[in-house]
Amino acid sequence: MLTTNGIQQATEAVEQAKKKVNNRHRLGYHIMAPANWINDPNGLVQFKGEYHVFYQHHPYDENWGPMHWGHVKSLDLVNWEHLPIALAPEDACDKDGCFSGSAVDNDGELTLIYTGHHYIDKERDLFYQNQNIAVSTDGVHFKKVVENPVIEKPPADSSHHFRDPKVWKRGRDWYMIVGNSKNNIGRVILYRSPNLRNWEYIGVLAEGNEQLGYMWECPDFFELNGKHVLLMSPQGIKEAGDHFKNLFQTGYMIGEYEYDKNKFGHGEFIELDYGHDFYAVQTFLDDKNRRIAIGWMDMWESDMPTKKDGWCGALTLPRELTLSADGKIKMVPVAEVTQLREKKLSAIENQTITSSYEMGVQGSMFEVEAVLEVTNAEKVELVLRGIENEATVLAYDKSTNKLRLDCSKSGKKKDGIRRVKLAASDQLKLRIFVDRSSIEVFINEGEATMTSRIYPTEPYRSVEFTSCSGKSLLKKATCWKLKDIWNEK
Ligand code: FRU
Repeated sequence: MLTTNGIQQATEAVEQAKKKVNNRHRLGYHIMAPANWINDPNGLVQFKGEYHVFYQHHPYDENWGPMHWGHVKSLDLVNWEHLPIALAPEDACDKDGCFSGSAVDNDGELTLIYTGHHYIDKERDLFYQNQNIAVSTDGVHFKKVVENPVIEKPPADSSHHFRDPKVWKRGRDWYMIVGNSKNNIGRVILYRSPNLRNWEYIGVLAEGNEQLGYMWECPDFFELNGKHVLLMSPQGIKEAGDHFKNLFQTGYMIGEYEYDKNKFGHGEFIELDYGHDFYAVQTFLDDKNRRIAIGWMDMWESDMPTKKDGWCGALTLPRELTLSADGKIKMVPVAEVTQLREKKLSAIENQTITSSYEMGVQGSMFEVEAVLEVTNAEKVELVLRGIENEATVLAYDKSTNKLRLDCSKSGKKKDGIRRVKLAASDQLKLRIFVDRSSIEVFINEGEATMTSRIYPTEPYRSVEFTSCSGKSLLKKATCWKLKDIWNEK
């Protein structure tokens, strides 16, 4: 199959741009483009035994612009390989952007379902959006189908926001949900198809209210431990205490769904992560029957200092989702992630901390696994200490059961703090993944997560546990140096 001009040009542009990338904040084990801008993960799928991840990509610039689909694949969800750009916006169906979407394996044909973006008046951000399909048998070269757009426009009562199709199969039918809004209220609408080409509009699967935002981006809908989960990324939810602190959120609703009635009875909207940088999350089911999620590890309109370095944007570690007994999603890194452990840097057991204990760890890419008992102390802290007064600090306050992530001295000067309230307990289990410009904190085996980009100027000099106003017990703590899968340095 011939690659189109747009794809060839874009792939070459990235190759060129790569030469100018400054590596200082480049991540070592997260998905990024070789150069220039990326945002949402797209088209997560397993195809012919390999994991494929696509992403929103501007191959020509470190800022968002005409969206292409970048592409990586992996055999193990840990070691990723860049492939040529998969989609370029160069056809009548997607003239101003190939926006987010999903992928399915249709009997050996890898099918991408994505949104075509079309400006009516770019200056005034007037646009329309439609849904399109591209197919591939080799999993590398994609051809847009002649039936495009497969859905030309949204239902009559809809706004112009009509994007981010997520497709799945049930029995003989294909289903698609699309992010949408009506009268400035976010909603998700549902279609059905026998063949991925002809789609029938079924109706609204779920809709919000004034509190739940004006538009729901990147919807996903799946079964988890016998329940149905609607995952989406609403725009326009107002901050409330420790909640909804980012510009936009990703969260979910759990419920029961009746396919024959298109009826989704569900609970409240719950945030999925409590850090600064976690958005547009998408999931897929792999051949081990795991529901795996990957998100964009940034947030619209945040400071993104790597733009100066010729690249911008990354995806989170792949995370496995399960449902807890109290109806909340638990997220842990997929088991394969332990393959990143290159060397044990430090390990300790049953260490009483009266004031401070230093792990003897230095570096910029490491994992810390720790179990703490906080019986007597008021607060325990984990300080990643950098040069001068740089630091990233996690602090657990026993009286409130809140864990605080403070990145104000590691590149997030304004609004550097996030908090999450945990179930009351004397024990705190942490798994922390530090990369050159990110931190992902997995708390109590998935009870909560906090994901943020951080920008220390130099590798961390030490990892310290501190106990305030009383003793704590470090039951176990291990630190590993993690592998650089890109080996760019
Ligand atoms: C979410 C999003 C999607 C859209 C894409 C454009 O971050 O706004 O709704 O398809 O990014 O790049």
